[in-house]
Amino acid sequence: MAHKIFDLSERVVIVTGGASGIGRIYCEALASCGAKPVIADQNEMLAQQVSSDLKACGRNALGLGCDVSNSDSVQAMVAAVIKNFGSVHGLVNNAALMSSLPRGPWYEIEPSDWDRVMEVNLRGLFLCSRAVYPHMKHSGSGRIINISSNRIWDGTPNRLHYTTSKAGVVGFTRALSREIGDDNITVNAITPGFTSSEGQIQSSDPAYIAKMQELNSRKALKRTQIPEDLVGALLFLLSDASSYITGQTINVDGGAMMH
Ligand SMILES: NC(=O)c1ccc[n+]([C@@H]2O[C@H](COP(=O)([O-])OP(=O)(O)OC[C@H]3O[C@@H](n4cnc5c(N)ncnc54)[C@H](O)[C@@H]3O)[C@@H](O)[C@H]2O)c1
Repeated sequence: MAHKIFDLSERVVIVTGGASGIGRIYCEALASCGAKPVIADQNEMLAQQVSSDLKACGRNALGLGCDVSNSDSVQAMVAAVIKNFGSVHGLVNNAALMSSLPRGPWYEIEPSDWDRVMEVNLRGLFLCSRAVYPHMKHSGSGRIINISSNRIWDGTPNRLHYTTSKAGVVGFTRALSREIGDDNITVNAITPGFTSSEGQIQSSDPAYIAKMQELNSRKALKRTQIPEDLVGALLFLLSDASSYITGQTINVDGGAMMH
């Protein structure tokens, strides 16, 4: 039997962008641990579908429509979580604009596209953290996990707005962890490497995918990263096992980048 410090049963965890890609895998993993995942996604139909699929397997879950860049939408989502489940233990700030963004030179990025990336990838983190904070404070503990990207260690070009926003996630994580440590809320980040989520594969140029073999050969663990590779770090950061870890960024990319 697993040690009780890893026990997540009955813990309510909001996963933004949980309806597809890596977020969906997080929700499935949480449900299989007996936690109650909240699938909060702009795609409401898909969020509810994921929730129904989990319930059909005897799990507990809640699917909600939410645009993380919109304050009213975020407040309504968190209010629905409290109404349904009474508390919130964890927030996984996973929703982001990524796979829908074209790769290209920085000079071709329209200022309006730059702003939208910052709205979803950074303002979204702020709004969601702000909305759960009073509930976590009231319950005496909480876990916020922010999803960044290993691009920030590499300086990967061709999605400058995206890479910049993901570097901001680390600054946000560090500063917020200091501001809410006294409330016993931890704030950590994960930097995934290129992961074969359906969105990432569909949006990547076939030439880039063909280059994967070569990119993989530069890693310590020489294979393509899959969404399941991220689950261990996420569950650890949500559990009591990580209760004295905060403000940190864990790189999960098979040893492509080291920091
Ligand atoms: N896949 C990768 O290679 C990779 C690498 C590094 C980091 N990441 C990060 O991991 C996370 C998940 O990646 P993915 O590949 O599953 O992405 P994805 O693009 O496939 O899925 C993103 C999810 O977020 C939702 N979403 C987008 N905008 C939203 C909004 N405004 N409000 C609510 N939901 C919204 C989408 O509907 C979708 O379900 C992202 O933060 C991404 O930046 C991914």
